[in-house]
Amino acid sequence: MSEPPHRRRAHASSSDLERYAGLFAERTRVMRSSAMRDLMAVTARPDVISLAGGLPDTSTFPPQEFAAQMTRIAQESAAEALQYGPTEGFRETVDCIVEVMGAEGMLPDPEDVIVTTGGQQAIDLLGKALLDPGDVVICEAPTYPGAIPVFCSYQAETIQIECDAEGMKIDELEATLDRLESEGRRPKFIYSVPNFQNPAGVTLSLERRQRLVELARARELLVVEDNPYGLLRFEGEPLPPLYQLDGGDFVIYVGTFSKILSPGIRLGWLVAPPALMEKIVLGKQAADLCTSTLTQYFVREYFGGGRWREYVDNLVEIYRGRRDAMIAALQRHFPPQATWTVPGGGLFIWATLPAYIDTSDLLAKALREDVAFVPGEAAYVDGRGRSSMRLNFSAGDEDEIAEGIRRIGKVIGEQVELYSALTGEHPTPPAASPAGDEAPNVVPFRKVEGE
Ligand SMILES: Cc1ncc(COP(=O)(O)O)c(C=O)c1O
Repeated sequence: MSEPPHRRRAHASSSDLERYAGLFAERTRVMRSSAMRDLMAVTARPDVISLAGGLPDTSTFPPQEFAAQMTRIAQESAAEALQYGPTEGFRETVDCIVEVMGAEGMLPDPEDVIVTTGGQQAIDLLGKALLDPGDVVICEAPTYPGAIPVFCSYQAETIQIECDAEGMKIDELEATLDRLESEGRRPKFIYSVPNFQNPAGVTLSLERRQRLVELARARELLVVEDNPYGLLRFEGEPLPPLYQLDGGDFVIYVGTFSKILSPGIRLGWLVAPPALMEKIVLGKQAADLCTSTLTQYFVREYFGGGRWREYVDNLVEIYRGRRDAMIAALQRHFPPQATWTVPGGGLFIWATLPAYIDTSDLLAKALREDVAFVPGEAAYVDGRGRSSMRLNFSAGDEDEIAEGIRRIGKVIGEQVELYSALTGEHPTPPAASPAGDEAPNVVPFRKVEGE
């Protein structure tokens, strides 16, 4: 029997749009795409060097170990692994989560943990449980680009607080909270990525962590601590998580196995007090009933082997080398006016170019050179960040990183030359400036020599 032809439709036609226009929910008007997801399609081409994704290097996971784990699951628990599971997740998965959080000094009550389909779903479930249209969410500027579409789809008003080398500026946060209070408004939560932040690579200082938690407690405000990168520390001493400083009353914690094991297994978690957890569980039931049973079994097997810390240590070694390779390439190929962050961990560097360069325009030119990055605008709700870019150093090897930066440096160089030719101005390097005295929208960083 011959196969029926597949219907193919690359884009919605105008008649499609007309047909559906009257059906769309109000919230779809403000829904926004995640810039990274859009870029994924372009960067899937093998000739493109992508510094755009947030992809951990999963080729570091030994295929034999993967095969052995899956074989054990198939032989010992096939029927259970192929079955639905509890909405909250299996207790064995929660035990693994408690172990991971313990490695950063946290001691959550297992009853306060729900296993989610990635950290992304945890953010979404918080939005679902807490946000009505018009509610205020506060986050960092720049913030995790994947959080913005969540806040938008729940029609929240997102207010971003500038970051510097020590993370979110708490003075500015306090002033914003005062202003909101004078208007009779309270944010539903303050969202922060305190360690090696996506996208800027900055880490919230101890003093600011303490102040943020004090503020939350004094004003009875919820803080969402999203911490995918805390264990990917290349140097220096770990700082206490907000969750630990607070004890779990006002700080809600979001974690994930994506960056310490695999994003493909789509396993994350959320830790919240019982009253909130009840609503989160209802939201998750409606969303997907339960997180993948199969991948929860995978994690259980993996942690049973007792070598997860070893694997993370190995990632840290690899990513540290790649960060250094990226910094060296930036020093070599970016113009003297460019600045960038030097993260002590995580996956990202944030680079800022002269204000006359728009990185969304630059991306189109970079793609012609087969290289991609995330334009800074994706990390803001209000069009800021136009002269910045997020650069990922975990996905490719050191040679690819160097070549990718060389290609981006080339297109930047062309823009700088064009600007000089048109204006007669010649580039001058920025003065080394202490953290804090930055140009607007720019996370301030010296161009670091030999650090
Ligand atoms: C800050 C932050 N939160 C959440 C996520 C979502 O990760 P996942 O859904 O894979 O756990 C990411 C992914 O890059 C991230 O950087």
